[in-house]
Order: sequence, then structure tokens, then C-alpha cells
Amino acid sequence: MQTIAVVSAKGGVGKSTFCTEVGKGLCALRKPVLLVDMDIGVRSLDLLLGVAEKVVYNWGDVLLGNCDVRKALLRAPCGVWLLPAPLRFSEEFTAGAFASLLEPLKKDFDYILLDSPAGMETGFRLSAACADTCVFVTTPDAVSVRAAANAARTVRGMTDAALLLAVNRYDKKVHRTFCADDTVDTVGARLIGVVPECAAVYAAAGGGYVSPDSKGGAAFRRIARRFCGEQVPFRMKLL
Ligand SMILES: Nc1ncnc2c1ncn2[C@@H]1O[C@H](COP(=O)(O)OP(=O)(O)O)[C@@H](O)[C@H]1O
Ligand SMILES: [Mg+2]
Repeated sequence: MQTIAVVSAKGGVGKSTFCTEVGKGLCALRKPVLLVDMDIGVRSLDLLLGVAEKVVYNWGDVLLGNCDVRKALLRAPCGVWLLPAPLRFSEEFTAGAFASLLEPLKKDFDYILLDSPAGMETGFRLSAACADTCVFVTTPDAVSVRAAANAARTVRGMTDAALLLAVNRYDKKVHRTFCADDTVDTVGARLIGVVPECAAVYAAAGGGYVSPDSKGGAAFRRIARRFCGEQVPFRMKLL
């Protein structure tokens, strides 16, 4: 069982997309997967998974005693389970309380992915504190890499979770000087995958389907297989 926090100090780099598509990939490998939306106030996974209309409860309701955790779970048509984010912050949202909420779910799921918000506030801290693995998502540009490195420094000071790096929206025509190996050094995390810029992924932002045969869809599926321990070769030259 793995609890994976998907983080970066920056918004718009693809954390929610990563959770959705890697979640679908794990599901396709017959692994029970739970995605937890940690973006308090700006949730997005319900939309990306096509279950926005079905959300009634969220994990904030569980921590505030309004419902049992299982009542707040939703199953998306793709098979992935979702625990939606609360709309408002509360002082009750502590790392200890959140960890206790996740505990009973660990026997039902092989993978729990925590989709962190931008910044390093409550959602980020709860995710990092409860995870055994942190994936830093970055786009290939310097600003995003710096944000991932800052997030990694903060996480290193908080936990001894395994640190992984995912590079998203790589476009070999645009990012001519990008070197994955340098980025690994800057962030200080092991590379789990490089996802290319992909129109099929972008087009699905409103909750559409990403074909596993598209370049981006296939890259997310390869990451899912790496999480399952498969040795899946990297397609890009790393140096
Ligand atoms: N590999 C990709 N190729 C093209 N567009 C992408 C890719 N990954 C993410 N996007 C797009 O980037 C935008 C931000 O992604 P999102 O997952 O919401 O980022 P975050 O959760 O980090 O804020 C969305 O419009 C999404 O469709
Ligand atoms: Mg997001």
C-alpha cells in the first residue's frame, strides 16, 4: 500500500492531471486507487473524473463529524475512487486528524494519491505529512523547476518520504536545452517519468477522455506501471 502526495509549490504544472491519469493507469492494472483532492476551496478532481454533480460530502465533513469517511467516497466511471476536498478551511484540519481519516481506507486501496494545491499551505502540508512517497511535478521551465526544488526542500525538512520527480508538458522543439538529469539534481528526487506536451491531455481538461494511445496518455500509463514496480524504460535521453 502506498500513499503518494503529488506536490509542487506552483499551480498549473499538471498535478491534478497527473493524479487523474496515473490513477486511471493504476486502475487499468487492476489496482484499487483512491484520489484525494487536497485543494481546499478550489477542488478539481471531481470535474476531471466527471463526477462533479455527484459530490455531496467531502473529507472536511468527515473531520468535522458530519459523516463517516465511506459516505464521502465517490466512484468515477473510470473505476477510480475520489474523496473530494472541502470548500472552506477549518482549524480542525490537522495532520494528525487527516492521517486518522486515511488510516481505515488503507486496507481497501493499493494506492492513495493526494492531489496537493499550489503553494505550501494546509493542503500541501497535510499531504506531505501523511505520504510515504512525494512526487514533485514540474514543467521543464526554470521557474517551475525552482518551485519544485523549494517544495522538495520543505518536504525533506518534514518527513523521510521517498522523493520522486515527474516532468510534465515536455516539448522537445521548445525545451531544446532541457536536461532531465540536471533537473533531478536540482530537485533532489528520482525521476519517475517525463510526460510530453499533448493536445489530447489538454483537450480533456474539462473532464474528457485521454486515450492511453496518445503520447501524453501513454506516458502517464508508463508512470503507473513504474509505481507497480515494473522496469519501464525511459523514452527520452536523460543527459
Ligand atoms: N502533458 C500535458 N499536455 C498538455 N496539457 C497539459 C498536460 N498536463 C497538463 N496539461 C494542462 O495543463 C493545465 C493545468 O493542469 P492541472 O493538472 O490542472 O495543473 P495543477 O493541478 O498543477 O494546477 C490543464 O489545462 C491541463 O489540461
Ligand atoms: Mg490541481
